[in-house]
Amino acid sequence: MTNLLDKPAPKPGILDIAPYVGGKSKIDGVAEPIKLSSNENALGASAHAVEAFVDAQAKLFRYPDGHANLLRAAVSEYHGLEPDRLVFGNGSDEVFSLLNQVYLEAGDNIVTGEHGFLAYRISALACQAAVKLAPEPELRIEIEELLKLVDERTKLVYLSNPANPTGTWNTPEELAELRARLDPRILLVIDEAYAEFVDEPTWKSAFDMARDSENVIVTRTFSKIHGLAGLRIGFGYCPKAVIEAIERIRLPFNINLPAQYAGVAALSDRFHVEASRQQVLNWHPRFLQEVRALGFTIHKSAGNFVLIHFKDEAQAEAANAYIMSQGLIVRHVANYGLPQCLRVTIGKDDENRAFLDALARFAKK
Ligand SMILES: Cc1ncc(COP(=O)(O)O)c(C=O)c1O
Repeated sequence: MTNLLDKPAPKPGILDIAPYVGGKSKIDGVAEPIKLSSNENALGASAHAVEAFVDAQAKLFRYPDGHANLLRAAVSEYHGLEPDRLVFGNGSDEVFSLLNQVYLEAGDNIVTGEHGFLAYRISALACQAAVKLAPEPELRIEIEELLKLVDERTKLVYLSNPANPTGTWNTPEELAELRARLDPRILLVIDEAYAEFVDEPTWKSAFDMARDSENVIVTRTFSKIHGLAGLRIGFGYCPKAVIEAIERIRLPFNINLPAQYAGVAALSDRFHVEASRQQVLNWHPRFLQEVRALGFTIHKSAGNFVLIHFKDEAQAEAANAYIMSQGLIVRHVANYGLPQCLRVTIGKDDENRAFLDALARFAKK
């Protein structure tokens, strides 16, 4: 007889991690739902990127360049960043995971905002580190609250700027203060996944701050503005010592070959970047105006999404169910600690119209 305990057991803590639940993509009985649940690019990928992806088929039997040199050169030129300070990941998710693996031992911790992006937390827990969540009283990261949680076992502080799902942002002055008050042995990771959609005079990329720093990392992704979420490309702009450590554990072919070609082509298509940005910026004020007119709360958001606040969790759930019954998928963000809210990605014109009309019908029910 086999003893039930005689089987492989995951290390302590693994089965306590709640599996990540992504945005839904199906509604039973609806052939083609309108998907506004994962902050993907409303306009899709650039035609140049799609062409490069298709052309890559002739080379599929080859391993990709393990150093992603063409992509590295293109990113370096596009953003004005030193090529040897870039690390590429299978999405920026992988960059967070690599950082956690390099810096976290069991018993260490990371600090982030209470409504912060879930990907930072998963791999930290897998390293048997603790996750400390700082209150966000105005749904916004407060530097003081982050600093209160930092202790001698803190190895990384994560914040997204602008933040998902709240859509709030921190000013360069706040980030400079955080950096100045943080022990220089702690890494400050600033996730700028939504940078290109920001149109706020009080927001600035932290690339400049990271340039002359030994403990600041800025991450970006090709999943949002470049519409390549399915190909998985992200990168971190890091101090050289961080790159040297990460390069020892990064798997050599983590950026696949079609992704490298499509990524380069995406960067060359400035028209698509600008059109994607304008699509979002044009719709933001319309969402604010129409959602408020229906009596729901919505604040200005700095990403390609908006967060709509309902009276309570029950109303948010009812709105979510009704919107889904109308063939649209949005995101109920209860797992981000916001059970009374729905997050809606800004889509194409007809998709946004369909959502706002469905919400108006819900409000009249
Ligand atoms: C704040 C934030 N950071 C990072 C990502 C993930 O990006 P990637 O697709 O590059 O892993 C997302 C995706 O939704 C996000 O919202």
